[in-house]
Amino acid sequence: MVLTQSRGESGLQYLSESKEAPQSRSPNQELLPLTASVNSSDRLEIGGCEVTALVEKFGSPLYILDEETLRATSSQYRDAFERYYPGESQVLYASKAWSCLAVCAIAASEGLGIDVVSAGEIRTALQAGVSFDKIYFHGNNKSREELKLSVESGCTIVADNWHDLETLADFGKLGVSSKTGGPIRVMVRFTPGIECHTHDYIKTGQIDSKFGFDPNSLDRVFQFISEQPSLYCVGVHAHIGSQIFELQPHDDLAFVIIGALTKAQSYGLSATEINIGGGLGIRYTKTDDPPSIEDWARTVCTAVVAACDRHKLPLPKLLCEPGRSLVGTACVTAYTVGSKKVIPGVRTYLSVDGGMSDNPRPITYQSVYQVLAAEKMSAPLTETVTIAGKHCESGDILIKDAKLPECQAGDILVVTATGAYNYSMSSNYNRVPRPAAVLVRKGEAHTILERETDEDLLRFDRLPERLRTQK
Ligand code: LLP
Repeated sequence: MVLTQSRGESGLQYLSESKEAPQSRSPNQELLPLTASVNSSDRLEIGGCEVTALVEKFGSPLYILDEETLRATSSQYRDAFERYYPGESQVLYASKAWSCLAVCAIAASEGLGIDVVSAGEIRTALQAGVSFDKIYFHGNNKSREELKLSVESGCTIVADNWHDLETLADFGKLGVSSKTGGPIRVMVRFTPGIECHTHDYIKTGQIDSKFGFDPNSLDRVFQFISEQPSLYCVGVHAHIGSQIFELQPHDDLAFVIIGALTKAQSYGLSATEINIGGGLGIRYTKTDDPPSIEDWARTVCTAVVAACDRHKLPLPKLLCEPGRSLVGTACVTAYTVGSKKVIPGVRTYLSVDGGMSDNPRPITYQSVYQVLAAEKMSAPLTETVTIAGKHCESGDILIKDAKLPECQAGDILVVTATGAYNYSMSSNYNRVPRPAAVLVRKGEAHTILERETDEDLLRFDRLPERLRTQK
C-alpha cells in the first residue's frame, strides 16, 4: 500500500514503530497485538484475521485475543527469569486479569503457573489443565469452602490474615488434608510498606491496605505456623500494586521480602520461596512508557540476588505473578458505531454497542484508551469525537476526544489493549449480554467465550407464584 501521509495523521500510527522482529518486542510496550497489520483494503488484521470479517462472523462487540502475543509475553517472562536468575523460578499468571479456560490453558502450555483468588478461578485453572502444584490461592476473605477446595486440590494457599491461618490449622485438626497427603502448603503475604505511583484503587503495598499481614505481626505469624504440624510454610509473598512504570519499587521490594524470608527461617520454618507479585504496567496510550518485560525481570532477579548476598542466604525459589502485562495488549475490542450526536461548538458523541459493561476501567479508574477505525486505517484523522457506551449512565464514556477519520453508523471501531481487567470485570449492567471472545492465530479464529444471550440473563430469575397473577 502506498502511504500518502505520515503515520501520525492516521490509524497507522498505532502499529508498532519498532524495527525489531515481533518475537523480540516487548508486547507491553506496544499499543496493538504483535500480529497487527493493515491489508490491501486498508483494514486492520489481527492474527491474520480481518477485524471486520471477524465482527461479521462472530458479532459485535467482540473481544479479539491474539494468541501469538499472549505466548510472546508468557515466554518472555519465563525466559527472562531463567536467564537472569541463577536459582529456580516460576512465573504465575494472575488470572484475575482474564480468567477463562483458553487463556489459562495457553499460559500453562508456556510453562506458567496460575494465581487465583476464588473457587471460580481455581476451578477454571484446574479445568484448563493447570497442574495443582502450580496454583497459588490468594484473597483477603477466602471462604471456608474455598479454602477446603484449594487444600483438597493440592494448591498452595497464600495466607493473607489470621482468619486464613486459623481455618487452615482447624482443617489440620479436622483431618481435611492436602491431595498430596503432606501438610498444607502455605505462603505468608504481608504488606511491604512500599508506595508506588499508580491509581489509589490499585495500590496494595502501603501499610494501610486490606491485603496481607501487617509486617509487625510477622513474628507471631511465623511462631504460630511453626507450632502447627499440619501447615508447611513454603515462603513469603508481597505485591505492591498494578500498572507501575517505575522499576525502583520492585528493587526495594526484593530486599524487604528477603528480610521477611530470613525471619521465617529464624523460626525454624524451611521456607524457601518468595513471590514478588505482579504490577508491570502496559502501554494504553502513545504517551505511556512502561519498561520492557525483560528489564522488569532483570531488575527483580538482580535485586533478589543482591539481597540474598547481603543476608548470606541461599537463593530461594523466585516466583512472580504478572497479569496485566501478560494479557493486556494481546486483546482488542471491536465495536460497531450507532448513533452520532453533534452538539455544535461543544462535542460530538459517537455511540457504540458496548461500553462500561464490557470495559468498566474508564468509569472506574478514569483509564484512557486508544481507538481506531478498523476499515480506514490510513484515512486522515479529521474528527475529534467522544466514544460513548450504550449504557444509561452519563459517565459511560469509553474515550474522550478521540481522533478518528469521519465515521458513521455501521463503522467498526477498535479499542486497543483491552485484554486485562475488561472481560474479568465486565457486568450485565442494563441487562446487556457480555460480548463473545475469539482467539486468533495465523488466519484462524475460534470462539473462546460464547456471546451471552438475553435468555442467559434471565436464567437465574425466579418469579414467585403470587407475582405471576399480577396484571
Ligand atoms: N498479584 C496480586 C496479589 C494482585 O493483587 C495482582 C493484581 C496481581 C498479582 C497482578 O497484577 P498486575 O500484573 O495485573 O498488575 N482492576 C484493576 C487492577 C487490579 C489489580 C489487582 N491485583 C485495573 O483494572 O487496573
